[in-house]
Amino acid sequence: MLVHRKKRVLQDYKGISVCLDDLPRPLCFPALFGRTAPVHVEIGSGKGTFLLHQARHNPESDFLGVEWANAYYRSAVDRFGRWGLSNVRMVRTEASVWVRNWLPDASVDGFHIYFPDPWPKKKHRKRRFFQGANLVELERILKPAGGIQFVTDSEDYFQQALRELEKECRQLKPTAFVPAAAAGQGEWVGTNYERKYRRENRPLYKLAFSKIECTKMCSGNV
Ligand SMILES: C[S@@+](CC[C@H](N)C(=O)[O-])C[C@H]1O[C@@H](n2cnc3c(N)ncnc32)[C@H](O)[C@@H]1O
Repeated sequence: MLVHRKKRVLQDYKGISVCLDDLPRPLCFPALFGRTAPVHVEIGSGKGTFLLHQARHNPESDFLGVEWANAYYRSAVDRFGRWGLSNVRMVRTEASVWVRNWLPDASVDGFHIYFPDPWPKKKHRKRRFFQGANLVELERILKPAGGIQFVTDSEDYFQQALRELEKECRQLKPTAFVPAAAAGQGEWVGTNYERKYRRENRPLYKLAFSKIECTKMCSGNV
């Protein structure tokens, strides 16, 4: 027997979905969240699994997801709204333009980039987010001691990321990867992508870098 499941209508939650045109440049995080708190940004949030769990388990921090696909963006907003979360926002935009134009210096405690589109064809590699000028921007935007975490199933993307971090980012040093709140045993992030790829026994790659603190930079002790 065929069972037709009724598709739920996704709701917009105005306190969570952020309209780009309403935001000042540079963005002011305390104004956006209504308080001063640590800020974490996820680039390419998909349906928001990482953010949902992270925001629920860390009510003392604020979380912002950046997602350009409308269906995923709306799905994430609807999920966060149904959970009644007050410490998460979603913005629908292209991440490179967003970080370059909206995010102020030393304003973010953590960037999270999990299973970004790998663009495997050589001619498409320039479309990868985690490279070149975007890394310089992330380094600029991180607070001292802030961190970047990145996970991919593409070995080529991972190797490129390591090479470019070394080339472009003098203030970033390798550090320990902190598993996400959604991660189960043996997982790093706990999103659908990670679970699917682990079921398929694909090798996965992770990296974590943190920005050196000013005292260390100033004393030359790096
Ligand atoms: C493979 S999915 C991973 C989603 C999620 N991070 C996870 O682990 O389940 C990659 C997501 O990044 C989004 N994305 C890719 N490039 C983007 C860009 N330049 N700006 C904003 N979002 C982007 C895609 O629309 C997609 O939702």
